Amino acid sequence: MKDFKKSVVYQIYPKSFYDTNGDGFGDLKGVTSKLDYIKELGVDYIWMTPFFVSPQKDNGYDVENYYEIDPRYGTMEDFEELAKEAKKRGIDLMLDMVFNHTSDQHEWFQKALSGDEKYKNYYIFKKGKPDGSAPTNWESKFGGSAWQYVPEFDEYYLHLFDVSQPDLNWENEEVRKEVQKVIRFWMKKGVKGFRFDVINLISKGEFEDDDQGDGRRFYTDGPNIHKYLRELNEQTFGQEEGIITVGEMSSTSMENCFQYAGEDSHELSMVFNFHHLKVDFMGNEKWVLVPADFGKLKQILFDWQKGMADNHAWNAVFWCNHDQPRVVSRFGDEGMYWKQSAKMLATIIHCFRGTPYVYQGEELGMTNAGFTDISQYQDVESINHFRILQEKGLTQSDAYRILQIHSRDNSRTPMQWEKKEHGGFTTGTPWIEVNRNYERINAKEELEDKDSIFHYYQQLIRMRKEYDVIAYGDFEELDRNHPKVIAYKRTYGTEQLQVIANFYGVDVEWKSSQSFNGFEVLIGNYDETTIEDDKKISLRPYEAVVLYKKE
Ligand code: GLC
Ligand code: CA
Repeated sequence: MKDFKKSVVYQIYPKSFYDTNGDGFGDLKGVTSKLDYIKELGVDYIWMTPFFVSPQKDNGYDVENYYEIDPRYGTMEDFEELAKEAKKRGIDLMLDMVFNHTSDQHEWFQKALSGDEKYKNYYIFKKGKPDGSAPTNWESKFGGSAWQYVPEFDEYYLHLFDVSQPDLNWENEEVRKEVQKVIRFWMKKGVKGFRFDVINLISKGEFEDDDQGDGRRFYTDGPNIHKYLRELNEQTFGQEEGIITVGEMSSTSMENCFQYAGEDSHELSMVFNFHHLKVDFMGNEKWVLVPADFGKLKQILFDWQKGMADNHAWNAVFWCNHDQPRVVSRFGDEGMYWKQSAKMLATIIHCFRGTPYVYQGEELGMTNAGFTDISQYQDVESINHFRILQEKGLTQSDAYRILQIHSRDNSRTPMQWEKKEHGGFTTGTPWIEVNRNYERINAKEELEDKDSIFHYYQQLIRMRKEYDVIAYGDFEELDRNHPKVIAYKRTYGTEQLQVIANFYGVDVEWKSSQSFNGFEVLIGNYDETTIEDDKKISLRPYEAVVLYKKE
Protein backbone atom coordinates (compact mmCIF):
# COMPACT_ATOMS: atom_id res chain seq x y z
CA MET A 1 0.00 0.00 0.00
CA LYS A 2 1.17 3.49 -0.80
CA ASP A 3 2.42 5.79 1.91
CA PHE A 4 1.05 9.24 1.25
CA LYS A 5 3.99 10.77 3.09
CA LYS A 6 6.30 9.39 0.43
CA SER A 7 3.95 10.13 -2.44
CA VAL A 8 3.75 12.92 -4.98
CA VAL A 9 0.55 13.91 -6.74
CA TYR A 10 0.37 15.20 -10.30
CA GLN A 11 -2.61 17.42 -11.08
CA ILE A 12 -4.25 17.24 -14.48
CA TYR A 13 -6.68 19.79 -15.83
CA PRO A 14 -8.04 17.47 -18.52
CA LYS A 15 -9.50 20.22 -20.65
CA SER A 16 -6.00 21.57 -21.29
CA PHE A 17 -3.93 18.40 -21.15
CA TYR A 18 -4.18 16.53 -24.44
CA ASP A 19 -6.86 16.38 -27.11
CA THR A 20 -7.18 13.13 -29.07
CA ASN A 21 -10.10 13.91 -31.40
CA GLY A 22 -9.30 17.40 -32.60
CA ASP A 23 -12.30 19.14 -31.06
CA GLY A 24 -10.00 21.49 -29.14
CA PHE A 25 -10.80 20.08 -25.69
CA GLY A 26 -8.47 17.77 -23.88
CA ASP A 27 -10.09 14.43 -23.04
CA LEU A 28 -9.72 11.29 -20.93
CA LYS A 29 -8.18 9.35 -23.82
CA GLY A 30 -5.64 12.15 -23.96
CA VAL A 31 -4.65 11.48 -20.37
CA THR A 32 -4.41 7.74 -21.02
CA SER A 33 -2.18 8.32 -24.01
CA LYS A 34 0.23 10.39 -21.92
CA LEU A 35 0.52 8.03 -18.96
CA ASP A 36 4.03 7.01 -19.86
CA TYR A 37 5.10 10.62 -19.65
CA ILE A 38 3.57 10.92 -16.18
CA LYS A 39 5.09 7.63 -15.11
CA GLU A 40 8.48 8.90 -16.26
CA LEU A 41 8.14 11.81 -13.86
CA GLY A 42 7.70 9.29 -11.05
CA VAL A 43 4.47 10.40 -9.39
CA ASP A 44 2.11 8.13 -7.44
CA TYR A 45 -1.28 9.73 -7.97
CA ILE A 46 -3.03 11.76 -10.62
CA TRP A 47 -5.57 14.27 -9.34
CA MET A 48 -8.03 14.89 -12.14
CA THR A 49 -10.06 18.10 -11.94
CA PRO A 50 -13.79 17.49 -12.59
CA PHE A 51 -14.84 15.77 -15.80
CA PHE A 52 -18.45 15.13 -14.78
CA VAL A 53 -21.41 16.31 -16.82
CA SER A 54 -21.38 20.07 -16.56
CA PRO A 55 -22.42 23.18 -18.47
CA GLN A 56 -18.79 24.27 -17.96
CA LYS A 57 -19.59 27.72 -16.66
CA ASP A 58 -16.72 27.17 -14.22
CA ASN A 59 -14.89 24.50 -16.22
CA GLY A 60 -16.55 21.55 -14.53
CA TYR A 61 -16.67 22.92 -10.97
CA ASP A 62 -20.35 23.34 -11.75
CA VAL A 63 -21.49 19.72 -11.71
CA GLU A 64 -24.76 18.72 -13.34
CA ASN A 65 -24.42 14.99 -12.77
CA TYR A 66 -21.90 13.41 -10.41
CA TYR A 67 -22.29 9.94 -11.87
CA GLU A 68 -21.58 10.55 -15.52
CA ILE A 69 -18.68 11.69 -17.63
CA ASP A 70 -19.19 14.83 -19.66
CA PRO A 71 -19.23 13.69 -23.31
CA ARG A 72 -16.63 16.26 -24.26
CA TYR A 73 -14.18 14.31 -22.05
CA GLY A 74 -15.29 10.89 -23.24
CA THR A 75 -17.24 7.98 -21.80
CA MET A 76 -17.31 5.81 -18.70
CA GLU A 77 -15.38 3.20 -20.71
CA ASP A 78 -12.67 5.79 -21.33
CA PHE A 79 -12.53 6.43 -17.61
CA GLU A 80 -12.25 2.74 -16.79
CA GLU A 81 -9.55 2.32 -19.39
CA LEU A 82 -7.64 5.26 -17.91
CA ALA A 83 -7.89 3.82 -14.40
CA LYS A 84 -6.73 0.42 -15.61
CA GLU A 85 -3.79 1.73 -17.60
CA ALA A 86 -2.75 4.02 -14.75
CA LYS A 87 -2.87 1.14 -12.29
CA LYS A 88 -0.62 -0.91 -14.58
CA ARG A 89 1.94 1.84 -14.17
CA GLY A 90 1.55 2.03 -10.42
CA ILE A 91 -0.44 5.26 -10.55
CA ASP A 92 -3.75 5.79 -8.75
CA LEU A 93 -6.44 8.31 -9.52
CA MET A 94 -7.67 11.05 -7.23
CA LEU A 95 -11.01 12.56 -8.21
CA ASP A 96 -12.21 16.06 -7.56
CA MET A 97 -15.44 16.21 -5.57
CA VAL A 98 -17.36 19.45 -5.68
CA PHE A 99 -19.90 19.33 -2.88
CA ASN A 100 -20.18 22.88 -1.65
CA HIS A 101 -22.43 23.59 -4.62
CA THR A 102 -23.84 22.08 -7.78
CA SER A 103 -24.55 23.55 -11.19
CA ASP A 104 -27.90 25.31 -11.51
CA GLN A 105 -28.54 22.72 -14.24
CA HIS A 106 -28.37 19.87 -11.74
CA GLU A 107 -31.65 17.97 -11.50
CA TRP A 108 -31.89 18.82 -7.79
CA PHE A 109 -31.73 22.53 -8.44
CA GLN A 110 -34.11 22.32 -11.39
CA LYS A 111 -36.61 20.55 -9.14
CA ALA A 112 -36.03 23.15 -6.45
CA LEU A 113 -36.78 25.92 -8.91
CA SER A 114 -39.99 24.19 -9.92
CA GLY A 115 -41.09 24.52 -6.28
CA ASP A 116 -40.46 20.98 -5.05
CA GLU A 117 -39.96 21.50 -1.29
CA LYS A 118 -37.78 18.43 -0.83
CA TYR A 119 -35.26 19.78 -3.31
CA LYS A 120 -35.60 23.39 -2.25
CA ASN A 121 -34.28 22.15 1.05
CA TYR A 122 -31.18 20.77 -0.74
CA TYR A 123 -30.15 24.38 -1.26
CA ILE A 124 -30.14 27.58 0.76
CA PHE A 125 -33.18 29.72 0.01
CA LYS A 126 -33.90 32.71 2.25
CA LYS A 127 -36.25 35.67 2.40
CA GLY A 128 -34.72 39.07 1.71
CA LYS A 129 -34.51 41.89 4.24
CA PRO A 130 -37.72 43.80 4.97
CA ASP A 131 -36.74 46.33 2.28
CA GLY A 132 -36.52 43.50 -0.23
CA SER A 133 -32.74 43.53 -0.54
CA ALA A 134 -30.60 40.38 -0.25
CA PRO A 135 -30.65 38.47 3.08
CA THR A 136 -27.05 39.47 3.88
CA ASN A 137 -24.36 41.63 2.33
CA TRP A 138 -22.12 38.65 1.51
CA GLU A 139 -20.15 38.77 -1.69
CA SER A 140 -19.65 36.04 -4.23
CA LYS A 141 -16.03 34.97 -4.63
CA PHE A 142 -16.43 35.57 -8.33
CA GLY A 143 -17.74 39.13 -7.83
CA GLY A 144 -21.12 40.69 -6.99
CA SER A 145 -23.69 39.62 -4.39
CA ALA A 146 -23.69 36.02 -3.13
CA TRP A 147 -27.50 35.96 -3.36
CA GLN A 148 -29.71 35.55 -6.40
CA TYR A 149 -33.34 36.59 -6.31
CA VAL A 150 -36.00 34.15 -7.50
CA PRO A 151 -39.22 36.13 -8.18
CA GLU A 152 -41.49 33.04 -8.14
CA PHE A 153 -40.63 32.42 -4.48
CA ASP A 154 -39.82 35.98 -3.51
CA GLU A 155 -36.69 34.42 -2.05
CA TYR A 156 -32.98 34.43 -2.69
CA TYR A 157 -30.62 31.48 -3.02
CA LEU A 158 -27.02 31.51 -1.85
CA HIS A 159 -24.13 31.12 -4.28
CA LEU A 160 -20.67 31.72 -2.82
CA PHE A 161 -19.32 31.29 -6.35
CA ASP A 162 -20.97 32.03 -9.71
CA VAL A 163 -24.73 32.56 -9.86
CA SER A 164 -24.83 29.26 -11.76
CA GLN A 165 -23.32 27.44 -8.71
CA PRO A 166 -25.99 27.34 -5.95
CA ASP A 167 -24.67 26.24 -2.54
CA LEU A 168 -25.87 22.95 -1.11
CA ASN A 169 -27.53 22.81 2.29
CA TRP A 170 -25.35 20.46 4.35
CA GLU A 171 -27.59 20.91 7.39
CA ASN A 172 -30.00 18.69 5.50
CA GLU A 173 -29.12 15.07 6.21
CA GLU A 174 -30.47 13.98 2.83
CA VAL A 175 -27.85 16.11 1.12
CA ARG A 176 -25.11 14.49 3.16
CA LYS A 177 -26.45 11.04 2.21
CA GLU A 178 -26.44 11.98 -1.48
CA VAL A 179 -22.84 13.09 -1.21
CA GLN A 180 -21.85 9.83 0.48
CA LYS A 181 -23.51 7.90 -2.31
CA VAL A 182 -21.43 9.71 -4.91
CA ILE A 183 -18.19 8.91 -3.11
CA ARG A 184 -19.10 5.25 -2.73
CA PHE A 185 -19.92 5.09 -6.44
CA TRP A 186 -16.42 6.24 -7.39
CA MET A 187 -14.77 4.09 -4.73
CA LYS A 188 -16.39 1.07 -6.39
CA LYS A 189 -14.69 2.11 -9.62
CA GLY A 190 -11.35 1.72 -7.87
CA VAL A 191 -10.64 5.38 -7.20
CA LYS A 192 -8.00 5.69 -4.46
CA GLY A 193 -8.03 9.39 -3.75
CA PHE A 194 -10.40 12.31 -3.38
CA ARG A 195 -9.85 16.02 -3.44
CA PHE A 196 -12.70 17.94 -1.85
CA ASP A 197 -13.35 21.30 -3.41
CA VAL A 198 -13.69 24.28 -1.01
CA ILE A 199 -14.82 21.79 1.59
CA ASN A 200 -14.37 24.09 4.59
CA LEU A 201 -17.20 26.29 3.31
CA ILE A 202 -19.96 23.69 3.55
CA SER A 203 -21.14 24.49 7.07
CA LYS A 204 -22.79 27.88 7.04
CA GLY A 205 -23.08 29.63 10.37
CA GLU A 206 -25.32 32.57 11.09
CA PHE A 207 -26.74 34.46 8.16
CA GLU A 208 -25.79 37.97 9.23
CA ASP A 209 -24.45 41.07 7.57
CA ASP A 210 -20.68 41.27 7.71
CA ASP A 211 -19.57 44.71 8.73
CA GLN A 212 -15.91 43.70 8.54
CA GLY A 213 -15.65 41.92 5.22
CA ASP A 214 -17.33 39.93 2.48
CA GLY A 215 -19.06 37.41 4.75
CA ARG A 216 -16.43 34.70 4.73
CA ARG A 217 -16.02 34.73 8.51
CA PHE A 218 -19.58 33.36 8.82
CA TYR A 219 -19.16 30.32 6.61
CA THR A 220 -15.42 29.53 6.60
CA ASP A 221 -14.48 26.62 8.91
CA GLY A 222 -18.16 26.80 9.97
CA PRO A 223 -19.75 25.41 13.16
CA ASN A 224 -20.42 21.82 12.00
CA ILE A 225 -17.52 21.37 9.63
CA HIS A 226 -15.57 18.85 11.71
CA LYS A 227 -18.68 16.85 12.42
CA TYR A 228 -19.51 16.65 8.70
CA LEU A 229 -16.01 15.61 7.74
CA ARG A 230 -15.87 12.90 10.38
CA GLU A 231 -19.22 11.62 9.22
CA LEU A 232 -18.09 11.59 5.59
CA ASN A 233 -14.93 9.74 6.54
CA GLU A 234 -16.84 7.20 8.63
CA GLN A 235 -19.52 6.58 6.00
CA THR A 236 -17.26 6.41 2.93
CA PHE A 237 -13.50 6.56 2.35
CA GLY A 238 -12.65 5.71 5.98
CA GLN A 239 -14.10 2.25 5.42
CA GLU A 240 -11.42 1.27 2.94
CA GLU A 241 -7.73 1.26 3.68
CA GLY A 242 -5.34 3.20 1.54
CA ILE A 243 -7.57 5.97 0.27
CA ILE A 244 -6.00 9.39 0.45
CA THR A 245 -7.98 12.60 0.77
CA VAL A 246 -7.14 16.25 0.52
CA GLY A 247 -9.38 19.15 1.39
CA GLU A 248 -9.18 22.48 -0.33
CA MET A 249 -9.40 24.91 2.57
CA SER A 250 -10.35 28.41 1.59
CA SER A 251 -9.16 31.20 3.96
CA THR A 252 -8.80 28.64 6.73
CA SER A 253 -7.04 28.85 10.09
CA MET A 254 -4.14 26.66 11.09
CA GLU A 255 -5.98 25.53 14.24
CA ASN A 256 -8.77 24.11 12.12
CA CYS A 257 -6.25 22.38 9.87
CA PHE A 258 -4.72 20.59 12.85
CA GLN A 259 -8.05 18.88 13.07
CA TYR A 260 -8.89 18.53 9.37
CA ALA A 261 -5.64 16.72 8.76
CA GLY A 262 -4.69 15.52 12.22
CA GLU A 263 -3.18 12.06 12.58
CA ASP A 264 -5.98 10.87 14.84
CA SER A 265 -8.85 13.12 13.92
CA HIS A 266 -10.46 10.85 11.32
CA GLU A 267 -11.23 13.66 8.92
CA LEU A 268 -8.85 13.98 5.93
CA SER A 269 -5.31 12.90 5.09
CA MET A 270 -4.13 16.42 4.30
CA VAL A 271 -5.10 19.97 3.45
CA PHE A 272 -4.36 22.70 0.95
CA ASN A 273 -4.19 26.18 2.39
CA PHE A 274 -3.56 29.32 0.38
CA HIS A 275 -2.08 31.85 2.77
CA HIS A 276 1.34 31.67 1.12
CA LEU A 277 -0.28 32.46 -2.22
CA LYS A 278 -1.78 35.71 -1.03
CA VAL A 279 1.50 37.50 -0.45
CA ASP A 280 0.94 39.44 -3.67
CA PHE A 281 -2.64 40.39 -2.70
CA MET A 282 -3.81 43.33 -0.62
CA GLY A 283 -5.29 41.46 2.33
CA ASN A 284 -7.85 39.19 0.69
CA GLU A 285 -8.13 41.39 -2.40
CA LYS A 286 -6.59 39.62 -5.34
CA TRP A 287 -7.42 42.09 -8.13
CA VAL A 288 -4.64 44.54 -7.38
CA LEU A 289 -0.98 44.90 -8.32
CA VAL A 290 1.18 44.49 -5.25
CA PRO A 291 4.75 43.17 -5.27
CA ALA A 292 5.16 39.82 -3.54
CA ASP A 293 6.18 40.20 0.08
CA PHE A 294 9.06 37.78 0.51
CA GLY A 295 9.30 38.17 4.28
CA LYS A 296 5.67 37.30 4.67
CA LEU A 297 5.92 34.35 2.30
CA LYS A 298 8.76 32.87 4.27
CA GLN A 299 7.03 33.46 7.58
CA ILE A 300 3.83 31.76 6.40
CA LEU A 301 5.65 28.78 4.93
CA PHE A 302 7.73 28.31 8.08
CA ASP A 303 4.80 28.75 10.45
CA TRP A 304 2.71 26.17 8.63
CA GLN A 305 5.58 23.70 8.35
CA LYS A 306 6.32 23.93 12.04
CA GLY A 307 2.74 24.31 13.26
CA MET A 308 1.42 21.29 11.38
CA ALA A 309 4.38 19.16 12.43
CA ASP A 310 4.06 20.10 16.10
CA ASN A 311 0.38 19.21 15.98
CA HIS A 312 0.80 15.94 14.09
CA ALA A 313 -1.12 17.17 11.09
CA TRP A 314 -0.23 16.82 7.42
CA ASN A 315 0.05 19.45 4.69
CA ALA A 316 -0.29 19.24 0.96
CA VAL A 317 2.58 21.40 -0.30
CA PHE A 318 2.39 23.25 -3.59
CA TRP A 319 2.93 26.45 -5.58
CA CYS A 320 0.66 25.78 -8.52
CA ASN A 321 -2.79 24.61 -9.46
CA HIS A 322 -5.49 25.50 -11.97
CA ASP A 323 -6.49 28.58 -9.94
CA GLN A 324 -3.03 30.05 -9.51
CA PRO A 325 -0.71 31.86 -11.88
CA ARG A 326 2.42 29.98 -12.94
CA VAL A 327 4.97 30.06 -10.14
CA VAL A 328 8.01 30.73 -12.30
CA SER A 329 6.31 33.91 -13.52
CA ARG A 330 5.09 34.77 -10.06
CA PHE A 331 8.08 34.25 -7.76
CA GLY A 332 10.83 33.32 -10.21
CA ASP A 333 12.15 34.72 -13.46
CA GLU A 334 10.69 34.09 -16.91
CA GLY A 335 13.83 35.45 -18.57
CA MET A 336 17.51 34.87 -18.01
CA TYR A 337 17.12 32.68 -14.90
CA TRP A 338 14.04 30.82 -16.02
CA LYS A 339 15.53 27.39 -15.51
CA GLN A 340 17.39 28.12 -12.28
CA SER A 341 14.44 29.86 -10.68
CA ALA A 342 11.97 27.11 -11.61
CA LYS A 343 14.30 24.54 -10.08
CA MET A 344 14.87 26.64 -6.98
CA LEU A 345 11.13 26.96 -6.36
CA ALA A 346 10.68 23.22 -6.82
CA THR A 347 13.47 22.49 -4.35
CA ILE A 348 11.77 24.46 -1.59
CA ILE A 349 8.47 22.60 -1.93
CA HIS A 350 9.81 19.13 -2.56
CA CYS A 351 12.01 19.07 0.52
CA PHE A 352 9.21 20.25 2.79
CA ARG A 353 7.30 18.10 5.23
CA GLY A 354 4.06 17.34 3.40
CA THR A 355 2.84 15.75 0.19
CA PRO A 356 3.99 17.69 -2.88
CA TYR A 357 1.57 18.44 -5.71
CA VAL A 358 2.83 19.19 -9.22
CA TYR A 359 0.43 20.92 -11.59
CA GLN A 360 0.65 19.96 -15.27
CA GLY A 361 3.36 21.94 -17.05
CA GLU A 362 4.96 23.09 -13.81
CA GLU A 363 7.55 20.36 -14.33
CA LEU A 364 8.41 22.07 -17.63
CA GLY A 365 8.60 25.55 -16.17
CA MET A 366 5.53 26.73 -18.10
CA THR A 367 4.89 30.46 -17.68
CA ASN A 368 1.88 32.80 -17.45
CA ALA A 369 -0.38 33.03 -20.50
CA GLY A 370 0.68 36.46 -21.75
CA PHE A 371 -2.82 37.31 -23.00
CA THR A 372 -3.37 40.87 -24.18
CA ASP A 373 -7.03 40.85 -25.18
CA ILE A 374 -10.16 39.99 -23.22
CA SER A 375 -11.31 37.70 -26.03
CA GLN A 376 -8.42 35.39 -25.15
CA TYR A 377 -9.65 34.95 -21.57
CA GLN A 378 -12.12 32.15 -20.82
CA ASP A 379 -12.35 32.14 -17.04
CA VAL A 380 -15.60 33.39 -15.52
CA GLU A 381 -13.79 34.98 -12.58
CA SER A 382 -11.38 36.87 -14.84
CA ILE A 383 -14.10 38.06 -17.19
CA ASN A 384 -16.29 39.24 -14.28
CA HIS A 385 -13.42 41.13 -12.68
CA PHE A 386 -12.29 42.71 -15.92
CA ARG A 387 -15.69 44.40 -15.95
CA ILE A 388 -15.81 45.11 -12.21
CA LEU A 389 -12.34 46.71 -12.24
CA GLN A 390 -13.39 49.11 -14.98
CA GLU A 391 -16.65 49.87 -13.19
CA LYS A 392 -14.51 50.84 -10.22
CA GLY A 393 -12.78 53.38 -12.43
CA LEU A 394 -9.61 51.61 -13.53
CA THR A 395 -8.48 52.15 -17.09
CA GLN A 396 -8.73 49.23 -19.44
CA SER A 397 -4.96 48.90 -19.64
CA ASP A 398 -4.67 48.76 -15.84
CA ALA A 399 -7.37 46.09 -15.76
CA TYR A 400 -5.37 44.11 -18.32
CA ARG A 401 -2.20 44.40 -16.27
CA ILE A 402 -3.99 42.94 -13.26
CA LEU A 403 -5.47 40.07 -15.28
CA GLN A 404 -2.08 39.27 -16.77
CA ILE A 405 -0.71 38.74 -13.27
CA HIS A 406 -3.65 37.18 -11.42
CA SER A 407 -5.98 35.48 -13.90
CA ARG A 408 -6.62 31.78 -13.40
CA ASP A 409 -6.23 31.37 -17.15
CA ASN A 410 -2.48 31.79 -16.65
CA SER A 411 -2.35 28.16 -15.65
CA ARG A 412 -5.06 26.91 -18.00
CA THR A 413 -3.34 27.35 -21.34
CA PRO A 414 -2.76 24.02 -23.12
CA MET A 415 0.03 21.71 -22.01
CA GLN A 416 3.04 22.29 -24.23
CA TRP A 417 4.01 18.94 -25.68
CA GLU A 418 6.18 19.80 -28.65
CA LYS A 419 7.29 22.36 -31.18
CA LYS A 420 4.18 21.97 -33.31
CA GLU A 421 1.16 24.14 -33.91
CA HIS A 422 -0.76 24.69 -30.63
CA GLY A 423 2.15 23.08 -28.83
CA GLY A 424 1.00 19.68 -30.08
CA PHE A 425 -2.02 19.84 -27.74
CA THR A 426 -4.63 19.55 -30.49
CA THR A 427 -4.92 19.27 -34.24
CA GLY A 428 -8.01 21.47 -34.08
CA THR A 429 -8.56 24.87 -32.52
CA PRO A 430 -7.83 24.83 -28.76
CA TRP A 431 -10.58 26.08 -26.44
CA ILE A 432 -7.99 28.46 -25.00
CA GLU A 433 -4.90 29.74 -26.78
CA VAL A 434 -1.55 28.10 -26.23
CA ASN A 435 1.26 30.16 -24.73
CA ARG A 436 3.38 31.60 -27.51
CA ASN A 437 6.57 30.27 -25.95
CA TYR A 438 5.75 26.61 -26.73
CA GLU A 439 8.61 26.38 -29.24
CA ARG A 440 11.08 26.99 -26.44
CA ILE A 441 9.23 25.37 -23.53
CA ASN A 442 7.80 21.93 -24.27
CA ALA A 443 7.90 18.36 -23.02
CA LYS A 444 9.70 16.88 -26.01
CA GLU A 445 12.74 19.16 -25.67
CA GLU A 446 12.90 18.70 -21.92
CA LEU A 447 12.75 14.93 -22.10
CA GLU A 448 15.80 15.07 -24.37
CA ASP A 449 17.72 17.46 -22.13
CA LYS A 450 19.39 15.89 -19.08
CA ASP A 451 19.62 19.26 -17.36
CA SER A 452 15.95 20.19 -17.88
CA ILE A 453 13.44 21.30 -15.30
CA PHE A 454 11.57 18.06 -15.97
CA HIS A 455 14.54 15.94 -14.99
CA TYR A 456 15.13 18.03 -11.89
CA TYR A 457 11.54 17.38 -10.75
CA GLN A 458 12.05 13.72 -11.49
CA GLN A 459 15.07 13.69 -9.22
CA LEU A 460 13.27 15.52 -6.41
CA ILE A 461 10.37 13.08 -6.59
CA ARG A 462 12.74 10.14 -6.42
CA MET A 463 14.54 11.64 -3.41
CA ARG A 464 11.35 11.68 -1.34
CA LYS A 465 11.12 7.93 -1.77
CA GLU A 466 14.80 7.27 -1.10
CA TYR A 467 15.37 9.52 1.92
CA ASP A 468 13.18 9.06 4.94
CA VAL A 469 14.28 12.42 6.26
CA ILE A 470 12.41 14.12 3.41
CA ALA A 471 9.22 12.20 4.01
CA TYR A 472 9.24 11.95 7.80
CA GLY A 473 11.78 14.41 9.20
CA ASP A 474 11.14 17.23 11.66
CA PHE A 475 11.16 20.78 10.42
CA GLU A 476 13.36 23.55 11.72
CA GLU A 477 13.56 26.98 10.13
CA LEU A 478 16.91 28.70 9.68
CA ASP A 479 17.39 32.45 9.52
CA ARG A 480 13.84 33.81 9.47
CA ASN A 481 14.97 37.37 8.89
CA HIS A 482 17.32 36.96 5.96
CA PRO A 483 15.92 39.19 3.20
CA LYS A 484 16.77 36.89 0.27
CA VAL A 485 17.34 33.33 1.42
CA ILE A 486 14.95 30.58 2.49
CA ALA A 487 16.76 27.98 4.53
CA TYR A 488 15.55 25.14 6.68
CA LYS A 489 16.65 21.94 8.24
CA ARG A 490 15.02 18.51 8.44
CA THR A 491 16.05 15.81 10.88
CA TYR A 492 15.05 12.17 11.15
CA GLY A 493 16.99 9.81 13.40
CA THR A 494 20.57 9.96 12.20
CA GLU A 495 19.70 11.72 8.95
CA GLN A 496 19.92 15.48 8.45
CA LEU A 497 19.02 17.71 5.55
CA GLN A 498 19.73 21.39 5.01
CA VAL A 499 17.89 23.19 2.26
CA ILE A 500 19.22 26.60 1.23
CA ALA A 501 17.65 28.66 -1.53
CA ASN A 502 18.34 32.12 -2.90
CA PHE A 503 14.98 33.60 -3.86
CA TYR A 504 16.47 36.42 -5.93
CA GLY A 505 18.40 37.02 -9.16
CA VAL A 506 21.53 38.34 -7.47
CA ASP A 507 24.52 36.79 -5.72
CA VAL A 508 24.26 36.43 -1.96
CA GLU A 509 26.44 35.13 0.79
CA TRP A 510 24.76 33.17 3.48
CA LYS A 511 26.16 32.41 6.89
CA SER A 512 24.54 29.54 8.68
CA SER A 513 24.06 28.89 12.35
CA GLN A 514 24.62 25.24 11.43
CA SER A 515 27.84 23.61 10.39
CA PHE A 516 28.15 22.06 6.93
CA ASN A 517 30.81 19.64 8.14
CA GLY A 518 30.22 16.15 6.92
CA PHE A 519 27.36 17.14 4.60
CA GLU A 520 27.29 16.21 0.93
CA VAL A 521 25.35 17.94 -1.84
CA LEU A 522 22.28 15.87 -2.64
CA ILE A 523 20.91 18.10 -5.37
CA GLY A 524 21.38 21.66 -6.60
CA ASN A 525 20.45 23.77 -9.59
CA TYR A 526 24.01 24.79 -10.51
CA ASP A 527 26.83 22.45 -11.46
CA GLU A 528 28.89 23.05 -8.38
CA THR A 529 28.08 24.88 -5.20
CA THR A 530 30.72 26.93 -3.43
CA ILE A 531 30.79 26.15 0.25
CA GLU A 532 33.32 28.64 1.55
CA ASP A 533 33.91 27.37 5.00
CA ASP A 534 31.99 25.17 7.37
CA LYS A 535 29.27 27.78 7.86
CA LYS A 536 29.40 30.04 4.85
CA ILE A 537 28.02 29.53 1.40
CA SER A 538 27.97 31.73 -1.74
CA LEU A 539 24.77 31.50 -3.69
CA ARG A 540 24.40 32.57 -7.30
CA PRO A 541 21.13 33.97 -8.71
CA TYR A 542 18.25 31.68 -7.69
CA GLU A 543 20.67 29.05 -6.53
CA ALA A 544 19.28 26.23 -4.39
CA VAL A 545 21.21 23.46 -2.77
CA VAL A 546 20.26 20.51 -0.60
CA LEU A 547 22.86 19.17 1.80
CA TYR A 548 22.61 15.76 3.40
CA LYS A 549 24.36 13.91 6.18
CA LYS A 550 23.84 10.57 7.82
CA GLU A 551 25.68 9.76 10.99
C1 GLC B 1 -12.22 25.78 -6.09
C2 GLC B 1 -11.71 25.34 -7.43
C3 GLC B 1 -11.99 26.43 -8.42
C4 GLC B 1 -13.48 26.61 -8.48
C5 GLC B 1 -14.07 26.89 -7.09
C6 GLC B 1 -15.55 26.72 -7.10
O1 GLC B 1 -11.55 26.89 -5.61
O2 GLC B 1 -10.37 25.00 -7.36
O3 GLC B 1 -11.47 26.16 -9.69
O4 GLC B 1 -13.80 27.68 -9.33
O5 GLC B 1 -13.58 25.99 -6.14
O6 GLC B 1 -15.89 25.37 -7.26
CA1 CA C 1 -11.18 16.19 -27.33
